[in-house]
Amino acid sequence: MSIISINNVTKGFKQNILLENVNLDIDKGKIYGIVGPNGSGKSILFKMICGFIFPDKGNIFINGAETGKKNRFPENFGVIIERPGYIANKTGFQNLKELSLIRGVINDKQIAETMELVGLDPNSNQKVKDFSLGMKQKLAICQAIMEEQQVLILDEPFNALDIDSVKKIRDLLLKFKDEGRTILLTSHNQEDINICDIVYRINACQLERV
Ligand SMILES: Nc1ncnc2c1ncn2[C@@H]1O[C@H](COP(=O)(O)OP(=O)(O)O)[C@@H](O)[C@H]1O
Ligand SMILES: [Mg+2]
Repeated sequence: MSIISINNVTKGFKQNILLENVNLDIDKGKIYGIVGPNGSGKSILFKMICGFIFPDKGNIFINGAETGKKNRFPENFGVIIERPGYIANKTGFQNLKELSLIRGVINDKQIAETMELVGLDPNSNQKVKDFSLGMKQKLAICQAIMEEQQVLILDEPFNALDIDSVKKIRDLLLKFKDEGRTILLTSHNQEDINICDIVYRINACQLERV
């Protein structure tokens, strides 16, 4: 059974159809890439997968359960969609600590280790309001991976990262794949897609295998 199964999904806003009768099956342990120009519906697709919004037609199943049918958000999903809200007056570590209290499955050491993995200093006193865009992006990556989430839904994960950081995060995602985790990512940059096993392009409201 696929982890995520998108069946005949149509989605649009007013007269503007973004996706029409789209089908996609996501299997465990692979990296999938979705490319397409700005406004083509990449983020909308990911929001539907996460159950934040719903298809106009068709359905989406996560581990066999249809989204929106009284299901809770899948616990093993780590998600970046647009920039998460942070507490501006707290440090990166303090923000991740607050988020970790929701599930209560990781300790301070694990949070600090995750920050180091992506190139953030867990002991820094710098507040998030003074973070660069790239640092905020790294913090977003931390919250998506720090609980060893098994399915990562990463919308434009390389945005605002410098070249060394892009390489670091790419290597990290490849390591996660080797561990059997499943990753979906979007990009408008063809180069970022090199780490993907399977790539689709949104074109004329369809997902075309690249
Ligand atoms: N809530 C909304 N209401 C109306 N239009 C929306 C809404 N959300 C997104 N759109 C439109 O849908 C299109 C696709 O958006 P999006 O999925 O964010 O594109 P991208 O591929 O750049 O991620 C855009 O034209 C956007 O303006
Ligand atoms: Mg987008």
